[in-house]
This record gives sequence, structure tokens and C-alpha cells, in this order.
Amino acid sequence: MITVLFPRLPILFLLFSLCFLFPRVQGKLHSYTKQRHLQTISRISLPPAPAPDPEVNFGGDTTIFNVLSFGAIGNGVTDDTQALKMAWDAACQAEESGILLVPKGYSFMMQTTIFTGPCNSDVIFQIDGTIMPPNGPDSWPKNSSKRQWLVFYRINGMSLQGGGLIDGRGEKWWNLPCKQHKGSKRTTQPGACDSPVAVRFFMSSNLRVQGLKVKNSPQFHFRFDGCQNVHIELLSIKAPARSPNTDGIHIENTNNVKIYNSAISNGDDCVSIGAGSYHIDIRNITCGPSHGISIGSLGVRNSRACVSNITVSDSVIKHSDNGVRIKTWQGGSGAVSKITFRNIYMDTVRNPIIIDQYYCLTKSCPNQTSAVVISDVLYTNIKGTYDVRSPPMHFFCSDSVPCTNLTLSEVELLPAQGNILSNPVCWKAYGIMQTISIPPVFCLLEGIPPMMLIGIKC
Ligand SMILES: *[C@@H]1O[C@H](CO)[C@@H](O)[C@H](O)[C@H]1NC(C)=O
Ligand SMILES: *[C@@H]1O[C@H](CO)[C@@H](O)[C@H](O)[C@H]1NC(C)=O
Ligand SMILES: *[C@@H]1O[C@H](CO)[C@@H](O)[C@H](O)[C@H]1NC(C)=O
Ligand SMILES: *[C@@H]1O[C@H](CO)[C@@H](O)[C@H](O)[C@H]1NC(C)=O
Ligand SMILES: *[C@@H]1O[C@H](CO)[C@@H](O)[C@H](O)[C@H]1NC(C)=O
Repeated sequence: MITVLFPRLPILFLLFSLCFLFPRVQGKLHSYTKQRHLQTISRISLPPAPAPDPEVNFGGDTTIFNVLSFGAIGNGVTDDTQALKMAWDAACQAEESGILLVPKGYSFMMQTTIFTGPCNSDVIFQIDGTIMPPNGPDSWPKNSSKRQWLVFYRINGMSLQGGGLIDGRGEKWWNLPCKQHKGSKRTTQPGACDSPVAVRFFMSSNLRVQGLKVKNSPQFHFRFDGCQNVHIELLSIKAPARSPNTDGIHIENTNNVKIYNSAISNGDDCVSIGAGSYHIDIRNITCGPSHGISIGSLGVRNSRACVSNITVSDSVIKHSDNGVRIKTWQGGSGAVSKITFRNIYMDTVRNPIIIDQYYCLTKSCPNQTSAVVISDVLYTNIKGTYDVRSPPMHFFCSDSVPCTNLTLSEVELLPAQGNILSNPVCWKAYGIMQTISIPPVFCLLEGIPPMMLIGIKC
């Protein structure tokens, strides 16, 4: 709870003296104080007066640590890293909940920073202004990591929120000669390729990310690894469709994640789910242009990957290379299971439904005998249109470990151009069409393949 104490005193004094002098204006004054009270509360998300105290205590429960009070300039040019770090340390050490405030109307330039916990209590990191990194690889400090920018490490209990903007200024990173450029004939060239993830949460728990706009990350916009209990809400993530590797939200070794009511458009996956992810609920996402929502890639370089209990529902995927995708490399091990894709509208999507167990970036991956097992995948109420350059459904499963228990129910995908339905593609895919889909998928195999009778434990 936020209680407001300090501004009341002069008002009370005024009220007191006015009441004494003019008893009849009391009613009017009452509403006036109420208004003031509301204004003061709303200030929490607005910049306070120009010269704030280093900490403003709102009555004992919540203290605001405004970065301006720690020496931040916020002109978009001056390096404000130290000020933000100091404000973080103060908020993190506060005995009762602290608000680190990045005020509206200012732009803070920050270098790579690791905000480390644990903190003494929950921290609210309130971004109402803009935060941005140095502009491109040439301006990046030589001694700091080029793989991450803002890192939250070992935090238990934090909300990253506000109406402000995190601007990754990714353009110069995307143009590095080493990068793959979509749609251009330009081949990748050797050279330094590391690019920073904009916001990374590492080994943290009880996190909330809410309301922010995040754009143009040099690489992934958000990455969660080794985290638990993450709630993402009302985020807007934007990068150009041609920006390489700019996944919206990447999750790995993380469980209990909710991603709700958010819009993502970028040059790679809207959401990508890596190894060690469980209990992920994704709902009401508008995705695209992008590469869709992906589980994987998993099993790279013979690694073991387990992913289970993932639901994606009530979402729209538009003008994207893929819709809902599961991709694994050959040679991996582990399993993907209990996946549900429900109520998803596709608008001109190239591969609306795709399982690819031959994922390979070089086009020359040798066939191998092991694979990440895929089972219990439900596609229900998936409707809309597909880009006719690819078949609308593609179940390309492993020779050595086929996919099992794929279920299709109320799947209707029509060509976005023309009226010729392309045939779905299946390879070693076991499952059923619960209702006749459009186009119908007659290529699914019935039953359970003999070698799969032994359950896979993950
Ligand atoms: C990098 O060098 C600058 C200036 O020499 C210094 O202020 C900064 O703390 C260094 N950063 C790291 C991560 O070592
Ligand atoms: C879905 O998310 C959008 C934001 O992308 C939000 O405006 C809308 O209210 C949400 N719909 C529901 C039903 O929650
Ligand atoms: C699956 O994940 C949801 C959260 O998305 C959770 O509520 C549910 O209990 C999980 N189911 C199992 C069987 O663990
Ligand atoms: C690997 O196996 C798949 C499926 O059997 C087949 O289509 C593909 O041609 C094989 N690739 C190589 C390099 O042998
Ligand atoms: C097949 O998958 C569905 C969910 O898609 C699940 O309810 C069912 O139990 C699975 N069947 C078997 C035999 O595991």
C-alpha cells in the first residue's frame, strides 16, 4: 500500500486556518483536498517536482527512489549508468518496498548493467521515461559484455513496469556483416557477431513485467533463464520484420510463466520456448509480422531437452513465416509433451502448423538416430488463412522417434490467395483428426509406433 503523508501537512494547515476563518467554504475545500490527494498518488507514475529529495518516503510502506535524485541527467547522451545503479542499490536495500523511478519526459542512456539481488523486499522498477543503450557496437564500452544489456540477477520479487519505453537501438547491430539478413541475397560474413539481449532475467523468481513498450533490441528483447513464477502482461514489443534474431520473449529453464495480453512484431519468434521450460501459459497475444510462436529449437549439438505443459490460446498470428511451431535438431534427446494450441486465428501465415524434427541452419545436417521425442500435442480451433507458398500443415517427424498422439480438432485453414488447397505434409506422424479439418489431414498414422511403447521419462 502507498500512503501519502508529506504533502498533506501544508494542506491540513491551510484547511485548518481556512476553516477557522471561513467555516462556510469547508465543503468546497474538502473536495479540493481530495483532488490534491489523487494528484499526489498519480505522481507515483509521473515525474515529481524538479529537485526531489534522494528518497521520498510515502508514509513508511513505499519509498520512491527517483534516478534524478541520484545524479541521472536523462538527456539521452550523458551516461546515467552509475545513477541508475545507485538508485537500484538504494531501492534494493530498502527495508520496505522501494520504487525505482525512471521519470517521464527523460531519456536515460545506460551501459550494460547487472541489477543484482536478493533485495530486502519487493522492488518496483517503474519506467515512465525512456531507457536506451549506447548506439551500436562501436559505441559499446570495450570492457563490457556484448551479449546482454540490462540484466536482473538473483531477484526474488520484482515488478518491471510503467508506461515508458526501452529502446534497444538495434539497427547498427542488425547490420553487422555476420548477420543473416532476411529477404536479401547478402551472405553472412565472419567477424564479431555477439549482440546484446535487451532485458535478461537470470536465476530470479516472482517477477512481473507489465505495460512497457520495448523496441528494436539488438538481439532477443527479453530472455528468462533459470527463473520461476513470471507474469508478463500488456507488453508491446516491436522491431522490423527484417531485424535478425530479435525474438520477443525467450524462455528457458524457467517454469510457471504467464504471458498475457501482449502484442509482438519482430524479425524472429514472438515467443520462443527452450529446454527446461514447464507450465507456460500464453494467452491473447497478437503476433506478427514475425516467425510465430515456437517451441525450440531443441536438442542442438546432441543436447537433452525437456519441455512440457505449454498452452497457447486465444491469440492471433499474422503475416508470419510460421504460426505455431515445434522445432528440434536431430541427435538430441529428451521430450516435448502436453502441448496445447487452442483458439488461434491465423492471417496469411506461411506455415500455420508445423513440427520440424529436422531443424538445421546449414542445410547439410546429417541424419542421426536419436531425437527429442514429441508427443501429446493438441491443435484445437485453429482457423484462418495461410500463405500459399507453403503447405498449411507440416508434421515432419523423426525417422527414429516418430511424433505420437497428435490431435487435430476444428482446424480450418484456407489459402490467403486463390482457392486451391495444398495438401498437408506428414512424415512419421502418429495421431488423429478428431473433426475433419480443412484441408483434411489423411496422412497421419494410426496407433502407436512399436518402438514407442516404452514411456519416455524426462
Ligand atoms: C569499464 O571501464 C570504464 C572506464 O574505464 C569503467 O568506468 C567501468 O566501470 C568498466 N566496466 C566494467 C564492467 O568493468
Ligand atoms: C488482449 O490484449 C490486448 C493488448 O494486446 C488488450 O488491449 C485486450 O484488452 C486484451 N483482450 C482481453 C479479452 O483481455
Ligand atoms: C500446467 O500449467 C498450468 C499453468 O500454465 C498449471 O496451472 C497446471 O497445474 C499445470 N499442469 C500440470 C499437470 O502440472
Ligand atoms: C534424412 O531423413 C529424411 C527423412 O527420412 C529424408 O527426407 C532426408 O533426405 C534425409 N537426409 C539425408 C541427408 O540423408
Ligand atoms: C493424447 O493427448 C491428449 C491431449 O492432446 C491427452 O488428453 C491424452 O491423454 C493423450 N493420450 C495418451 C494415450 O497419452
